[in-house]
Amino acid sequence: MKQYFKIDEWNIIEEGLHPEENRIYESVMSLGNGHMGIRGNFEEDYSGDTLQGTYIAGVYYPDKTKVGWWKNGYPEYFAKVLNATNFIGIKVLINGVNIDLAKIKVKDFSRILDMKNGYLLRSFTIVDSENRETKIEVKRFLSMSELEIAAISYSITPLNHDADISLIPYLDGDVSNEDSNYNEKFWLEVNRAVDNEQGLLTMKTKKLDFHVTCAMKYDIKENGNDITKEIELIDKEKYVGNKVSFTASKGKTYTLYKYISVTTNRDYDTENIESEAIKKVNNAYSKGFDVLLNEHISAWERIWKESDVVIEGDVKAQQGIRFNIFQLNQTYTGHDPRLNIGPKGFTGEKYGGSTYWDTEAFCFPFYLSTSDQNIARNLLIYRYNHLEKAKENARKLGLNGALYPMVTMNGEECHNEWEITFEEIHRNAAISYAIFNYVRYTDDKQYLLDYGFEVLVETSRFWADRVNYNPRKDKYMILGVTGPNEYENNVNNNWYTNTMAAWNLEYTLEVMEYIKNEHPARFEELKNKLKLQDEEIEKWKDIVNKMYYPYVESLGIFEQQDGYMDKELLNVSDIPKEELPINKHWSWDRILRSCFIKQADVIQGLYFLSDRFDLETKKRNFDFYEPKTVHESSLSPCIYSIIASEIGYEEKAYELYLRTARLDLDNYNKDTDDGLHITSMSGSWLAIVHGFAGMKIKDGMLSFSPFIPKAWNKYSFKIIFRGHLLKITVDKEIITIEQEEGNELTLKIYDKEYTIEANGKITLETNR
Ligand code: BGC
Repeated sequence: MKQYFKIDEWNIIEEGLHPEENRIYESVMSLGNGHMGIRGNFEEDYSGDTLQGTYIAGVYYPDKTKVGWWKNGYPEYFAKVLNATNFIGIKVLINGVNIDLAKIKVKDFSRILDMKNGYLLRSFTIVDSENRETKIEVKRFLSMSELEIAAISYSITPLNHDADISLIPYLDGDVSNEDSNYNEKFWLEVNRAVDNEQGLLTMKTKKLDFHVTCAMKYDIKENGNDITKEIELIDKEKYVGNKVSFTASKGKTYTLYKYISVTTNRDYDTENIESEAIKKVNNAYSKGFDVLLNEHISAWERIWKESDVVIEGDVKAQQGIRFNIFQLNQTYTGHDPRLNIGPKGFTGEKYGGSTYWDTEAFCFPFYLSTSDQNIARNLLIYRYNHLEKAKENARKLGLNGALYPMVTMNGEECHNEWEITFEEIHRNAAISYAIFNYVRYTDDKQYLLDYGFEVLVETSRFWADRVNYNPRKDKYMILGVTGPNEYENNVNNNWYTNTMAAWNLEYTLEVMEYIKNEHPARFEELKNKLKLQDEEIEKWKDIVNKMYYPYVESLGIFEQQDGYMDKELLNVSDIPKEELPINKHWSWDRILRSCFIKQADVIQGLYFLSDRFDLETKKRNFDFYEPKTVHESSLSPCIYSIIASEIGYEEKAYELYLRTARLDLDNYNKDTDDGLHITSMSGSWLAIVHGFAGMKIKDGMLSFSPFIPKAWNKYSFKIIFRGHLLKITVDKEIITIEQEEGNELTLKIYDKEYTIEANGKITLETNR
């Protein structure tokens, strides 16, 4: 496998310039802070292949739908994450020559993503036709302590010559999306202003009226001192800049510090976003680069303190997991319940920056265990706030209750493939499952009273309407669906969907009993608000009792869907290597007819409802389905890995873990150029914490049953659990659990109870 980056515990290092693969490096070198993000684009001009990407959280465009054949119920638009004003830009002219790394001789190029401190460092030396060498070093970050602030330090040193240098720090709003259905540009200019050492640009989206202001301020220093310079103002449509010219002496370093603030009318009234942007950029400017950077580094220090995973004996694995944790924290900080986690985060345009079931099914446990409880809660509130839209969505399909969208920005469905939009309804249960997961982990039952129950009732109403009763079999069925395995469409009785639908109803009934018994007054309020009827509750019970689950008696396994066993049952090892991935080599029709599984489907259900199935059942299903799974979704191997860990297939668990852990760093799926697989990054964390360490909640108690992969000497991770901060360390012989914060806690290890004192620790032998 090709190695793109140097292996290092804390840094992602690119050595040498890679013009042919620039997009891959740009994706990996992305920075974000939950409010905004930028790909690893260069500050100076670059005429080579690049995907320019600056993304502002929650700012999107409802691009008019383009489909081959319109079907009633399709959404009018497909939301696009917007490439916004390029605010990092600094054009560089040395002795009158525009610096463009695609055209000029460059040596000693390196790009380093420093994950511990959260910044991007780039350095290189330019050699001109007269062998004059100029060294450039650039450091930039998007502040984790002041989310609307970005800062760049751009240093130039003419090594063997005196030089005439012009630097043009600018803001450029004339940007476009590659992924635009009608090649339309999405932004209009509202206002611009430019003066010496500052500029401002306000753009608005053509639809939805999102306003974004970028304000910049800069200064240039030589060894901390001001320099003599000339400034020319540049002011043209959608663009403001300053051309700053000065003479640079041989061997001296000149640094331009560019501070940028980015404000939007999502956070302020439209008429105030410019004054806010100016206030913020002035404040950043007066703090200065080093102070801002130190505050930013401290914020990262806190994040790492709670979420780092340390692996000893395998630097590649260490780099992989840190990269994933770093990117997850860059994407979502939980400060704003209107935001969510797009599959590509702030690293590309694919998937439109929208929210998928990925959040609840794959990312949620990571945030739940590694950050403040409110952050996971905000992810739930996001869906609560979309409940009315989810009800409309169900009505559009002619159904009761709420159907959460498969793809969304604001609660409306914005995906338009019938087999996904209309049929991949299992997503509804993932929303309910996250509520269950949250409450079981945090014990915050109040959430159910305030928000959760309403979501549970409306999703249950949807299921109750979507099932159909088959009197001949006296069973409820769910026909015409797509399960998590998107390589099957319009199937009947997908085991996962039926199982999760019935579970959803059962959990709603359980929560209803709890509220009724423990909070009768609140129950009455909710009953009235939701117009809960006794008959519907009876129907839910009936469905739970009579749901149909396809099962293969002879093998003792769940059948993925009706008819699955009628297919030609081959294994992935039967597919010639050159035909993999099948989604790139086979016709869609052939994929649909085959038995090959895109991603965990039955196995996803075994993971979610783990307590309901014994190890033998898990083993039989794993043995049958894993060899048939092509893992062509990055969300797949982690779930199989967790089950493999549980059933004692330790080597297999590790092999599957590796497929998620360095997916983007090794460009495993050959698509990192589009952006990173942010939502599957949590998969490697899940595979370690839920898989290798076997973390579960059993009867309200935290429980572990760890093993260590052969390739590792030791691993450790932190968990925040109900006010306790725990550090779990596993080596070849011993497990240690240390309590770093919190009072006495009782937990289970290999199903035996232990109590840890405040600041205490327990140590015992690994028995796997
Ligand atoms: C997967 C879905 C997922 C989507 C976005 C698809 O390839 O099959 O399960 O929601 O990608 O990550």
